[in-house]
Amino acid sequence: MQVRSGNEIREQFLRFFETKGHRRVHSSSLVPANDPTLLFTNAGMNQFKDLFLGAERRDYSRATTSQKCVRAGGKHNDLENVGFTRRHHTFFEMLGNFSFGDYFKREAIQYAWELLTSKEWFGIDPAKLYVTIFEGDASVPRDSEAYQYWLEVGVPEERIFELGVKDNFWAMGETGPCGPCSEIYYDFGREAAEDPSVDKPFPEDEQRYVEIWNLVFMQFDRAGDGTLTPLPKPSIDTGMGLERISCVLQGKLSNYESDLFVPLIRRVAQLANAKLTVNDLEGGLAEALAVADLDVAASMRIIADHSRAATFLISDGVLPANEGRGYVLRKIIRRAIRHGRFLEQTEPFLFQIDRKSVV
Ligand code: GLY
Repeated sequence: MQVRSGNEIREQFLRFFETKGHRRVHSSSLVPANDPTLLFTNAGMNQFKDLFLGAERRDYSRATTSQKCVRAGGKHNDLENVGFTRRHHTFFEMLGNFSFGDYFKREAIQYAWELLTSKEWFGIDPAKLYVTIFEGDASVPRDSEAYQYWLEVGVPEERIFELGVKDNFWAMGETGPCGPCSEIYYDFGREAAEDPSVDKPFPEDEQRYVEIWNLVFMQFDRAGDGTLTPLPKPSIDTGMGLERISCVLQGKLSNYESDLFVPLIRRVAQLANAKLTVNDLEGGLAEALAVADLDVAASMRIIADHSRAATFLISDGVLPANEGRGYVLRKIIRRAIRHGRFLEQTEPFLFQIDRKSVV
């Protein structure tokens, strides 16, 4: 199969859900509208929060989006991980499908499985996939329905795992819509393992088994004291990182080797020519980053990631400041500049990181 670009993958996702009756809705701003509980938009469902709560109505009950997200402050904060893992980003795009009191678990699971495994769509080998369901706790029972629906689409029982609140109960923030979730993991194989000489089973190896899609079964509104009140209508909220699914579908081991990042990494390499030249990169990014000093590779990833976050935050109206959102942006820019210094950049360089500059 021909390798798809990140842009094509985004389009395929949205188109798939349009064929299932979903309205394609534009991404909202990274600055959440009318929501003081959130620093930045951190998930596709944010712009639909009031629909889940039953406080707003629209002329559609199914939607699909590719949402700009920043996870660099507040409940979901990945800032310090960025650069040192293959998967974390401060800015990323979350692909999602939503049901506002329309379909629920059965269809959400059927759609997800069809999109991922059908040859007409993503065509991923089911033997590479695992799924998880919520095991239950004192306030919410085990998700036996999700278990049943995974069996129905053909996932063998030995590939369905039950995990606790940390992995399988999703909440937007300390308060607001939340519910049990079911996650789909991709097996990147021994090559990606923490120690490639050890064949660990799912879910023991976090490098090898990577969550690619989270299906949230929105059922509750959580109050400040932790009380869960059932939502007026059970709903669906899903989130799949475009960068992760692009890495999978392009046969790479790291998101930074996908076409969404390679031009940026090349540009960083071009600017920081003392350590790793564009020519080194011609042989393949993975190989080039592997021969580069570990710290150099991390700095390159950090600069590529942070330049995206800074660009999208500024274009949504956030400016560096001493507090709040502006302070987080300032931290992101400072961190990128510090890593530029590690790559011997003494002049301003961050403004030159763009996809088009590599000659
Ligand atoms: N709202 C689903 C997720 O962020 O994973």
